[in-house]
Amino acid sequence: MPDKLPVLLDCDTGIDDALAILYLVNSGLCDLVAVGSVHGNVTALTGARNTIRVLDVAGLSGIPVVVGADRPLAQPVDISAHIHGADGLGNTNQPAPSADPAQGEAAQQIIRLARERPGELTLLAIGPLTNLGLALLLDPDLAKLIPHVVVMGGAAIAPGNVTTHAEANIWHDPEAANLVFTAGWPVTMVGLDVTMKTLLSEADQKRIEDSQRDTARFSWDILQFYLDRYQEFMGFRTCALHDPLAAGIALERSFATYRKAELRVELRGEHTRGMTVADLRPGRQAESPVELALQVDAEAFREKFLDTIC
Ligand code: RIB
Ligand code: CA
Repeated sequence: MPDKLPVLLDCDTGIDDALAILYLVNSGLCDLVAVGSVHGNVTALTGARNTIRVLDVAGLSGIPVVVGADRPLAQPVDISAHIHGADGLGNTNQPAPSADPAQGEAAQQIIRLARERPGELTLLAIGPLTNLGLALLLDPDLAKLIPHVVVMGGAAIAPGNVTTHAEANIWHDPEAANLVFTAGWPVTMVGLDVTMKTLLSEADQKRIEDSQRDTARFSWDILQFYLDRYQEFMGFRTCALHDPLAAGIALERSFATYRKAELRVELRGEHTRGMTVADLRPGRQAESPVELALQVDAEAFREKFLDTIC
């Protein structure tokens, strides 16, 4: 059995974040070291409490979960309750979390753990990037201490999902995202180019519905609200496994194929603020290249996700 990958998670625990956490802790491949929450799908405090609720379902206590930034660096906060529900878990009124969030703050936790374990931690960010941006501003050496950052966010070629060109996690804090993509640390961007290909099929949904595992029953419960929202704009009952795919790629990069390119975040465009602008012109040498996931074996990932959850 391979050694478990030590992962530091930053999330805005809504529905697909919850599925990603369940995937991570049931994969057998991940040592979840700690979690930080951030504004986005929910407030940072609700995100931390939802994360503890999800870890309760997995029977895991004692993993430090701290609250992070409750607003972006340079724009008003905008909580996306319409996609994940007022409680962030599909308005399913889950039992209260078994514990309060741990003392401390997410950006400081990233810095502390990176300094305690230099060169060891994969930083997996599946919400807006405010905590990572703050950590980079507070600790100029941080980028040298983290060997791999995996971001669910952006879209190199695919359209956006909040606006025509902006994906939600980047749209929530474009300035923080720009800091993350230009910090010079090894970043893999798992954007809508690949996550919108991991749509749950009817058979996938039936498999989750039919499973008697607590993890699957919880997933099925919180998925209903998300499936309803997707049905409204996709015209059929499905949903994208955005955050679970980023978790899957952090643990097993072979699910996708990649291309390295310079990547900047548009900060001023009237119609394009929050767009991830990748330089895909042939023969361009990137100063601080970002690894873009552009193709995915969606079938293989969905299979692995269902095997892990059900
Ligand atoms: O665009 C999808 C991303 O935005 C996911 O992380 C989802 O949880 C929302 O935060
Ligand atoms: Ca998320």
